[in-house]
Amino acid sequence: MPSRNFAATRRVLVIVLISSILVPLLCMAGYGYFDYQRRIADALNIVDRLTRVAQEHALKIADLNNEIETRTLDLLGDSDDLKIRGDEGRVYSRLNAIASDYPQLAAISVFGRNGDLLASSRFFPAPQVSVSGREDFRAARAYAPKPYFSLPLSGTVIQSDVFTMNMARVTKEGDFLGVVSIAVRRQYFSDFYRDLTADNPALLVGLYRLDGNILARLPDISASNNPAPNVPFATTLARAVRAGRLNIISTVDGVERILSFRRVGDYPLYVASGYATTAILKEWRSHFIVLASLSLVPCLGLWSLILFSLRQLRTEQAAWEHWRDEWIKRESAEASSRQLRRMGALGNLVASVAHDFNNLLMVVSANVELATRKNCTNVHREVAAVKRATVGAEGLARRLMSVARKQPLKLEFLDLPAWLPSATNIIQTALTEKIEFRLHVTPDTWRVKVDVTELESAIMNIAVNARDAMPDGGVFSVQCRNISITRAEKALPVGEYVMIALSDNGHGMSPSAKQHAFEPLFTTKAHGAGTGLGLAQVIATCEQSGGTAKLESEPGEGTTLFLYLPRYSGMEVTEEPPLPGPVPAATPASDHVLIVQDNEEVAAGLCAVLEVLGCTARHERTADEALDVLVSGAVFDFILSDVQMPGKMSGIDLAEKVKSMWPAQKFALMTGYANELERAKLGGIIILAKPFNIDELRALLSSSGK
Ligand SMILES: Nc1ncnc2c1ncn2[C@@H]1O[C@H](COP(=O)(O)OP(=O)(O)OP(=O)(O)O)[C@@H](O)[C@H]1O
Ligand SMILES: [Mg+2]
Repeated sequence: MPSRNFAATRRVLVIVLISSILVPLLCMAGYGYFDYQRRIADALNIVDRLTRVAQEHALKIADLNNEIETRTLDLLGDSDDLKIRGDEGRVYSRLNAIASDYPQLAAISVFGRNGDLLASSRFFPAPQVSVSGREDFRAARAYAPKPYFSLPLSGTVIQSDVFTMNMARVTKEGDFLGVVSIAVRRQYFSDFYRDLTADNPALLVGLYRLDGNILARLPDISASNNPAPNVPFATTLARAVRAGRLNIISTVDGVERILSFRRVGDYPLYVASGYATTAILKEWRSHFIVLASLSLVPCLGLWSLILFSLRQLRTEQAAWEHWRDEWIKRESAEASSRQLRRMGALGNLVASVAHDFNNLLMVVSANVELATRKNCTNVHREVAAVKRATVGAEGLARRLMSVARKQPLKLEFLDLPAWLPSATNIIQTALTEKIEFRLHVTPDTWRVKVDVTELESAIMNIAVNARDAMPDGGVFSVQCRNISITRAEKALPVGEYVMIALSDNGHGMSPSAKQHAFEPLFTTKAHGAGTGLGLAQVIATCEQSGGTAKLESEPGEGTTLFLYLPRYSGMEVTEEPPLPGPVPAATPASDHVLIVQDNEEVAAGLCAVLEVLGCTARHERTADEALDVLVSGAVFDFILSDVQMPGKMSGIDLAEKVKSMWPAQKFALMTGYANELERAKLGGIIILAKPFNIDELRALLSSSGK
């Protein structure tokens, strides 16, 4: 029955399913991580670039303001408030000319020693205002000669949103003369930063004072919302680091950003650009969701396919298990019916054997009775009848033994081209007259080594089967040819064989009969018509000779039995211990023979026969007793021992013992069991196959016995 490993298939599918979930998940996680890192790196690059551009821009403006202030200082020289007021018209036109060239400049103002506005680029005459209280006025004086940048403020005169860059006017002697103040529009920076960031709300660009206060910024904030002085940004700037990066949460708008900052030349100014981390995360997330959704589509397809396969597998397994259960039920039903048939056949066999034996016993007892009545005189007919019965009984026993493969084979070299024609008559007796017999033997057929009697029985069994398969007549043909097997087959190793093909064109076999035909006791024949031993004997004979038997059969097409017998290419000298052939001439013997046999009757018969042959015989019941007798010094010309006997030693043990202690002692074993022969053959012990007749015994005694 074919086997299916559903558990393994399911395991593989589950592993594939888990992998198809885990692998994309891991890939997505890995991709997500690296994509996020890349986005952070990109954002850092962007803010670095923005910062650099913003720094260049701020530096340019600061330098320009510085230049304007220097020129204004040069223009004013050491003039005091009075002098400047007196020259206000000229100063106004010069300042106005400068300021009109630069849109970022809201105004250039000159303040006197007390903070009074002396001249302005925007007005002539200058309005009466004073900045004496303004922090940038006082700080400019303190910072001189360096410029001071004010916090964002609304210009006193022009009321616009600016921050100022103030520079104090100080004489060579150190007298404070006033302040030149340039008001720079914050809007100008915001506009520039807007262009720079392309209005990306995630980006921040700002101009800061050294203390962290914002001068200009995008996204814009009201002037009061300056960073707290102790936040990391302000403290980093206060440490006067020239450039760097920070990751901070803004105290101004509460947004977390990665920030890049740079100092603007040597001015107390910084520019900084930032990228909102929430924006990076948001962009990353939306990209990731799109990608995950796209990847999910094939994954969903794959998962459904695997789940579908798992369901199919479950259905298939259920169907397969159902089929297997049915198959097992049918097999066991078939097996029990076969067993029943076998038991029936065995019953038939036992009955038929018992019947045949009874007949033979009847013959024997009737003739013995007759001989007794005749006082054993003139009993030739009775003796001949008993002899015939004995031969019949031998045949019967032989048939049973050969099927059981217990029959000791008498292997002989056989020349089939010569032997098969001579067997034609006997084969034909098995066939009816309606059946035509054809024989074709290739003349150069190799010789084989086979038990001829067994081969003859095998051919007869096949012929009888052919006859039964062709009740209305037909053709039974026997062909014989050489064949070389080059690729080892079941029960047929590579080698050279003689193949005997025996064909009929009868009704053929069903596939089931073909499958079981060689099994002992398998028969399809009617109750009592067949015992199922025929083909079992055929295959046993072939296999015991080193070959095998096969069959081909189709219902309605006939049957062919192929017997394969290995080619014998050695010398005709037998490797077997020589079996005594019939020796017609009486060879009187006067040997002293030791019979080792547990069966009293058999022993008595043997002793009587030996006496007839002119020998004296001594009988021992077991091998142990026989060995004792030999050890005690008794000498025999020949020892004839059974194999299986009560006691510690078997006949084979005794033979080996005798051989080792008295190598010259003549010894032979009597057995009817083939499987006992192997050990004996290996030990080089002579075998006398049971049942044997008086001629075989005489031949053995006259032979060397070694
Ligand atoms: N030539 C044949 N044609 C058709 N069927 C055959 C042939 N030879 C054998 N068989 C089938 O094989 C079965 C076994 O054959 P086998 O010779 O072993 O036993 P048997 O003929 O039934 O009994 P037995 O030979 O012991 O009298 C037969 O019962 C028959 O079904
Ligand atoms: Mg048969």
